[in-house]
Amino acid sequence: MDTHGELQATTQALVQRGKGILAADESGPTIAKRFKLIGVESTEQNRRAYRSLLLATPGLSEFISGVILYEETLNQCADDGMPLAQLAQRHGVVPGIKVDAGKIALAHAPGDEITEGLDGLAKRLVGYKQKGARFAKWRAIYNVSHNLPSRLAIKANADALACYAAICQEQGVVPIVEPEVLIDGDHPMARCAEVTEAVLHEVFHALHRHAVVLEHMLLKPSMVLPGNEHAPATPAEVAAQTLRVLRRTVPAAVPGIFFLSGGQTPSEATLNLDAMNRLGPHPWALSFSYGRALQDPVLHAWQGQSGSVRDAQAALLKRARLNSAARQGKYDAAMESA
Ligand code: 13P
Repeated sequence: MDTHGELQATTQALVQRGKGILAADESGPTIAKRFKLIGVESTEQNRRAYRSLLLATPGLSEFISGVILYEETLNQCADDGMPLAQLAQRHGVVPGIKVDAGKIALAHAPGDEITEGLDGLAKRLVGYKQKGARFAKWRAIYNVSHNLPSRLAIKANADALACYAAICQEQGVVPIVEPEVLIDGDHPMARCAEVTEAVLHEVFHALHRHAVVLEHMLLKPSMVLPGNEHAPATPAEVAAQTLRVLRRTVPAAVPGIFFLSGGQTPSEATLNLDAMNRLGPHPWALSFSYGRALQDPVLHAWQGQSGSVRDAQAALLKRARLNSAARQGKYDAAMESA
């Protein structure tokens, strides 16, 4: 298949009706933090056991089209020796890979950060693709305050995201472009809306400059929310404000917008996605690419115990099912206890 055909096939597979993406690409320090909450040590063996559990969940592909993996997982195998990426594929879930190298302070911009990892990316992608990855993810983050993020941070991160996306497409790998406006702080929702709009405008300008084919990428934004130290907003408010910003900034050529959960509880993330889809139809599919909002209940059910694998998988399947309903605007809170 040529590059265009590959990109087209992967995009279509990811944007399937009623399905979303499982983000299981926590870096070493992040997965250690998650494991610590349940008293599990972050060893290579425990990470392998946990991620095998996720990928082997029976029936997952009914609700999940793709999974984002961390590089380590791409090199790991299940107990029977099958590479974990292949295990996902066998279950009808497209494997993807986080390719950024994390964030560092942005020089001359106190409080702002920039994501690194462009050096050698094209070469790395060739290797990831050989191991089964069909799409990639790069996350840029924006701290919010009355004066953050700076124009410099908005521009520099947009350029890095666009450069990454162009390199991916050239290698036949679908880029997920993830600009995350962080939830931390006491700012009102209007400040988040203002920042998100400025960020997305700049990201799409940069994508255009870098000749990224919008039809062959996915956007993974944060929702418009008040800061986590501010009074919360209702799902109707979140939906209205988020859609307003997206309509102003995201071209209709983008096939799918797959939200991150960004510190919302699992049920908040589901409710907010549902509220948006109830206001459809929209120019783009509105779906989920949740990490914590899908995995928190799984970690709690698992507790590092091999005897709890079935319960943990049931917890994943349940959250995936509820978010699949929300992706179609058909979620009902009564489904939580069903
Ligand atoms: P959360 O849904 O936990 O925000 O994670 C999504 C993700 O991929 C972060 O980069």
